[in-house]
Amino acid sequence: MSEIRRGKLITLEGGEGVGKSTQSKRLAEFLEDRGITVLRTREPGGSEGGEQIRRLLVEGAPGRWTPLSEAFLYAAARADHVAHLIEPALAEGRWVISDRFTDSTLAYQGFGLGLPLDAVAQINALAVGELKPDLTFILDLPVGDGLARARARAHDGHESAREDRYERMDESFHQRLREGFLTIARNAPERCVVIDTARTVDQVARVISVTAAERLIAP
Ligand code: TMP
Repeated sequence: MSEIRRGKLITLEGGEGVGKSTQSKRLAEFLEDRGITVLRTREPGGSEGGEQIRRLLVEGAPGRWTPLSEAFLYAAARADHVAHLIEPALAEGRWVISDRFTDSTLAYQGFGLGLPLDAVAQINALAVGELKPDLTFILDLPVGDGLARARARAHDGHESAREDRYERMDESFHQRLREGFLTIARNAPERCVVIDTARTVDQVARVISVTAAERLIAP
């Protein structure tokens, strides 16, 4: 009997309104057309416990949690998500595309809210153990454009209308986030690829799929 080949973990990261969920769908379609079974998921959330914790994190007043309590809540959601959804899928040979993962905690709670980066890295490591994304796309967009997109989406009655805790933070927070994501990418070029999303959805989808194919499918 042939051994099951472990799946790959691909993460999509970036600030508000950069188009991660659309790109996650497009990438899943591209991979499925190549015979790969894909699980699409998100953080905070994904698993049942993770989704319950999500509501505590994304709704309510911007100052509802201290940065440290937030980081632990993200870690609790993530540990549940990894144990109940991501690890089993990878072990069965499925590929997992997660809309956000550990880099979001480093960017939002570390660079954005000012928690020491090494503390965030330690909390992340406790939550995921040895698991590391095989490939991470950092979707990048000027802050004003991303916030305008996110707010337009909220007006359309999208679930994000309630989930606006971070959108409501000031512009300098979002600027720190963007710089944070770019710094994360610079520090891990073997894993991270920055994607300029100030283009059409099709153009962005093409760059992402070509890169995934080159990095993960080509021998
Ligand atoms: P979403 O809007 O992309 O679904 O993400 C929900 C919010 O959670 C988003 O504003 C970013 C925030 N977030 C963090 O602050 N830290 C994290 O570790 C994660 C996963 C998300």
